[in-house]
Formats: sequence, C-alpha cells, structure tokens
Amino acid sequence: MITKWWQKAVIYQIYPRSFQDSNQDGIGDLPGIIFRLDYLKKLGVDALWLSPVYPSPNRDNGYDISDYQGIAAEYGTMEDMERLIEEARKREIKIIMDLVVNHTSDQHPWFKEAKKSSESPYHDFYIWREEPNELISNFGGSAWTFVPEVGKYYLHLHAKEQPDLNWENPQMRKAIYAMMNYWLAKGIGGFRLDVIDLIGKEPDRLITKNGPKLHDYLQEMHRETFGNYNVVTVGETWGATPEIAQLYSGECREELSMVFQFEHISLDKQTGKRKWDLKELNPQELHQVLSKWQVELQGKGWNSLFWNNHDLPRIISRWGNDDHYRELSGKMLAIYLHFMQGTPYIYQGEEIGMINYPVASIEEVDDIESHQMYASRLKAGYTKEELLASINAKGRDNARHPMLWDDSKQAGFTKGTPWLPVAISSEISVKNALADPNSLFYTYQRLIQLRKELPIIIEGNYRVIPTEESHVLVYERLLPGQRLVVVVNFSNQVGHFSLEHPEKSGVVLIHNYQQEIKEQLAPYEAYAILYTKN
Ligand code: GLC
Ligand code: CA
Repeated sequence: MITKWWQKAVIYQIYPRSFQDSNQDGIGDLPGIIFRLDYLKKLGVDALWLSPVYPSPNRDNGYDISDYQGIAAEYGTMEDMERLIEEARKREIKIIMDLVVNHTSDQHPWFKEAKKSSESPYHDFYIWREEPNELISNFGGSAWTFVPEVGKYYLHLHAKEQPDLNWENPQMRKAIYAMMNYWLAKGIGGFRLDVIDLIGKEPDRLITKNGPKLHDYLQEMHRETFGNYNVVTVGETWGATPEIAQLYSGECREELSMVFQFEHISLDKQTGKRKWDLKELNPQELHQVLSKWQVELQGKGWNSLFWNNHDLPRIISRWGNDDHYRELSGKMLAIYLHFMQGTPYIYQGEEIGMINYPVASIEEVDDIESHQMYASRLKAGYTKEELLASINAKGRDNARHPMLWDDSKQAGFTKGTPWLPVAISSEISVKNALADPNSLFYTYQRLIQLRKELPIIIEGNYRVIPTEESHVLVYERLLPGQRLVVVVNFSNQVGHFSLEHPEKSGVVLIHNYQQEIKEQLAPYEAYAILYTKN
C-alpha cells in the first residue's frame, strides 16, 4: 500500500558549498539556500537533502564532522538553520539532514579524547587494534593508522582523518541516537545516511559492507530515533542487491524508508575494477538492471531513483550527450527515470542540464578521492594523461562546481572568489532555463507535477516491453484500466519503435520533440503516453 508522504515525493539534493553564496566569501551558505527557496518551490520538489553543514575540517568537504550538533561558521548559524527549516516548511518543503555516523572527523572531541589513552571513556568509541590487517581504505592505501600515544592502530575506511566509529559500543550508539533526536526535535524531514552499510563491519574478518549486526543496529536506531517521527530515511548502500534492499526497506522491517543502490551507476566501469577503470555503457544492460530493481522491489521495498549526486559525474556528460544534444539527451534521461516507481532525487544543476568540467592538470582538482587515486596510481606506473582522463570522466569535482544562476561574472553564485571555479557558460543557467518554456527545467517541473497528478506513476506495476534495437528502451506501468508507456531512444542515432495502439487513443503526457510521434525515433527522442480504457 502506498501511504507514505515520501512515496509521492521528489527530493532535491543541495551541495551547500556550491549552491548560493550570500556574503561573498565564495562559499555557498544557509542564507543562500533560503534566498533560493522560491526557485525550488517553482520546480515543485517536496524536500531538500543538504550535504553536511556541520563544523568540519573539510578534508572530505563536510563528510568529516567535528561537531554533530553545530553548524559550520562558513554556512551560517543554528538560527539560520532553524530559519531555513521554517521558511521551507512555509513552502511545504522539508529539510533532510545528511547523517554521517560510520565515522567522525579526527578533530571531533570524541576522537581527540580517544587517542589520548586507552583508559579514556571515548577510546572505545573507535576501532583499535595492536596490528593492522590488509583492509584497504575506500580512498586507497591502508585502512589503519598508528597512534604512538596509545601504541595502537585505528580503523578508517576513508581518509585517515575520518576514523570509523565502533558500533559495537552501546555507549557510542546511545550518543549517536541522542544527537539524532536533537535534530528530529527541530522538525527536520529526515536523514540521508552516509555509507550506512559499513556500520556492521567486522574488521578482523575483513567484512566491511553488510556485516552481521548491520540490521540489528538499524532496527535499534529506528526504535530509538526516527521511528517516532513521520520522516524519510534513505541509506547510501553501495553493496545492495534487491534482496538486501528488501531487508532495509521491507514494510515489516522497521529500518529505513529506502536505500540508494548503485548497481546501475557501476555499469560503465570494468568488472572487478574501480570506478576509474572506464568502459562504455551498454543501454540494454542499464535497462535490465533498472528493470530488475523495479520488479524485485515492487510491493517488497521501495526504490530511490537517481542519476546524480555530489560523488558522481554529471549524467548528461556521462550517458547523454553534452555536445550537440545537451538539452534533448537531458530530457530523455529525465523522462526515462521519472516514470519509474520510487522516490526521484534531483541533484542541484541537473534540472538546468549542467555538465562536467574537465581539468588540464591535477593542480586544478580539489577532491581528496581524486588526489589519493592520482598519487597511488602514478606510483603504480599509470601516465598522467590516463589519470586525468579518469578524473575528467568520473572525478567528484564534476558535480561540485557552483550552481549556474545567471550570466553575470561568477554566474550569480558569488561576487567573491568561488571556492571551486564556476564553469561559466553562455548557454547553461537558471536564468536562461526559466526564460525558455521549452527548457529542461520545465521538463523536470512537468515530470514532478505528473507524479503528483497520476497515481499510476506511483503505484502502477512495471513491465519491460522488448524492442529490436538495443538503444531503444521501452517500459510500461499498469493499473486496472490504465496503461502508461515510456519510450526512449538512448542514442544519437535514429531508432525505431511502433506502438501497438495508435497515438490517437492515448494522451501524450510528455515528449521532448515538438513533432508527431512516428515509428522512427530521432536522436534521444523520448515520450510517455497514457492509455485509459473507458
Ligand atoms: C559517502 C559520501 C562521500 C564521502 C564518503 C565518506 O560516500 O557520499 O561524499 O566521501 O561517504 O563519508
Ligand atoms: Ca558564504
């Protein structure tokens, strides 16, 4: 049964550092977000997920938190945060906080105490061993760092400045739940849970993802915190399969509302290798993977639907075409995803078709992950050219360049010096998008509106319709008496598809070309038709 508000919602992700600067220090901030709420209301989204805004030394841009219950000075104050929650609420928009509880910053007071002595009450908040084992950090290199004061190594599955919390310690869990309840009491709309599938780890057995106690912890967390509120929770789970996703989001499980799965996101990397090891996308494979998730979670869980986030390259540059078909391919990608079942997420700038920003040297790169990969692979014998090609295709900075608002010098993001260059464009901006009734922005607006109007988008059963050409992807959604057909050409070549029912008997809900629907599909052509029996 579809009864929850978040099953009907569309969520917009903000990377606060790059959204809107209000005091001209070159860093986006909370007053900047408040200033843009009317824009987000116009788009039609129901909730905003903010990447972390807590105090942080920013080794990993806020995903290394040094105070869970504060706001970083560069983003504003707690009053600004409360004002944001309130101003958003007035516009029927909820605020979702990013919850990073697999690790803290090494500057968090807990860790500072923990590493002073093994006797400290905070020592066991983290994971210590006399000897390191072969576990590798997600950012490369050993996952263990030695602390001479205590004569032991601590575990960090990311940078060494991000020590992993010890979830086996009930005191630590209690402290985390108290912090979560502090935020829930402020009236937030939920949490996005960073790398949550790592909290059940058993380092001695080299188990990181999906450890044996993971679901016990989540059930406890649900009971102690958000289970008492009408909020959304979405876990980042790189290791999820549909069976695993059911454990988190199955209705009787009392864990999370849904997870982000990454199976589709991994299709353009070589099997068994890392994201940097590129491979061309096969659209049929994409269709198979997303269809599998649609079918297998139907009635047994809930999908999240996304192309982008702050860790991923821009989807138009990745699987669309940022050359001649930027808007058309962007519309195709949006139409393909937004008629599926689940909760769609839009990442800032996606709705105006922002694209990747290539760099010519490593000095232009900010992101710690790209830097660590570059250093270690250079040692291993890769050429600089190869490494820059990987960074330009997959590096996280691609998503983190400031939002393009208008055609002024720094695109309306700041009047100061931006923390990361603004990818100035004569074409891409919110200003242009709003002025053109045919822009990608209005495709997204229409898709969000259709989801609110048509229950079939939320509830309909999903079925693949086979096609003869591998770049033509078709599916249908079904409710008694209703059928919604979605047809997309995932390529810059023409394609072919003939509807068994003529267009006349159905209503075209959306179409990215202003022409009649024919058997021949133009490059990136995409449309959806609703048939109703009467
Ligand atoms: C998640 C975040 C990413 C961060 C990592 C460590 O994957 O999305 O940005 O670097 O966790 O917190
Ligand atoms: Ca600022």
